[in-house]
Amino acid sequence: MILAIESSCDETAAAIVRAGGEVMANIVASQIALHANYGGVVPELASREHLRNIVPVVRAAMTQAGIAFADLDAIAVTEGPGLAGALLVGITYAKALALGTGKPLIAVNHLEGHIHAVLMQGREQGTGNREQGIATPEEGPLLALVVSGGHTHLYLAEYDGVSGAGTWRYRNVGRTVDDAAGEAFDKVAKLLGLGYPGGPWMDALAKHGNAAAVEFRFQPLKTRQNKIDLAAQSSAAGSLTAPRGGDPTFDFSFSGIKTAVLRYIQTHEMAAVIDARRTALALALREQPILRADDALKLLPENFDAQTLDLIASFQYAVVGNLMRQAFGAAEAHGARAMVVSGGVAANSELRQRFTAEAAQRGLPVAFPTMAMSTDNAAMIAAAAWPKFLAGQFADDTLIATPQLRLG
Ligand code: KG4
Ligand code: ZN
Repeated sequence: MILAIESSCDETAAAIVRAGGEVMANIVASQIALHANYGGVVPELASREHLRNIVPVVRAAMTQAGIAFADLDAIAVTEGPGLAGALLVGITYAKALALGTGKPLIAVNHLEGHIHAVLMQGREQGTGNREQGIATPEEGPLLALVVSGGHTHLYLAEYDGVSGAGTWRYRNVGRTVDDAAGEAFDKVAKLLGLGYPGGPWMDALAKHGNAAAVEFRFQPLKTRQNKIDLAAQSSAAGSLTAPRGGDPTFDFSFSGIKTAVLRYIQTHEMAAVIDARRTALALALREQPILRADDALKLLPENFDAQTLDLIASFQYAVVGNLMRQAFGAAEAHGARAMVVSGGVAANSELRQRFTAEAAQRGLPVAFPTMAMSTDNAAMIAAAAWPKFLAGQFADDTLIATPQLRLG
């Protein structure tokens, strides 16, 4: 039985999970309302809020699970990546608790947690996913797309060893070179005067727009490998056997589409409409602090013109299309036997629909976490800690926060 603690960004979370899959408690204290006033996460405020929340959140998890500290086998905590001050609150608390109770401490990479959110649910659902070949770890590599507000990564995840006695290994086969996909959703939502965080707003509003209205294109990225091969190609000019292209690249770039949206707004003179929407929403938010996009659309229909809705639908269509191209391309190139998609943006309904359809067509199993498991939580940290517990991979009291921690 593992108590896991997650505090890498703006959610203070604690969970109790038995045997890596049975969730006995999963408590998340969200700071969304606090940061909404600033249109983004303010690191200093996040740390202070974690300090305030950590004790009550852990107590609530223990009470919900109906257990005492003595019943625990280990304490797991997110080591990174994330905000230094925020990570430090969870790590300091976990270290102190481990020391006080004499329980072993397990350090978990937040990104590995997102991947295990899906694997855990595969185990929980038993035969369903097993038949699809996602829950059984020994059969070959999985392609994992972790796509959130801070990350857009592709990993090949492979289980090393026989079931129950091995660990997972990861190889990063694609990453964003600039913004994360969730960040692009959030920034574009902000440009359009929508609520915070922008992802869920874009998702809800895109359903009311025409995705074919505006064409956004993603240019192929020039990787170092490609540049070398192009140089080799030109030096071998005239030769029929000149090397072609390079290794396929599965990196991402989302800053271009954000600029394209900004340019569209400028050339179509949408500023006045956006300002009016921002003001109307700010007023509505005073009445109703938790305002969802669907409510806003009903409340203020005049502030959601067709041009804006079309732009949102077109943006989302393009971003999801790009995520699909890279993820399915990488899965094929690396011989993955299944795909898992996780992180906050995996909650996007169009993404789920189109990934599921494409996967079915290719005969490649794909799995997503439930909505609650898509965004940050501690149950996923406990799930990722489980194989480490079985393998005896424990952290010592020198554990520190690693804001730039990498996986693979
Ligand atoms: O995983 P997460 O909770 O935190 C990070 O580790 O970043 O992800 C939050 C991100 C935000 O950018 C948010 O806008 C985005 O996930 N997000 C969505 C949706 N729900 C959350 N993006 C698109 N569509 C959604 N439905
Ligand atoms: Zn996350």
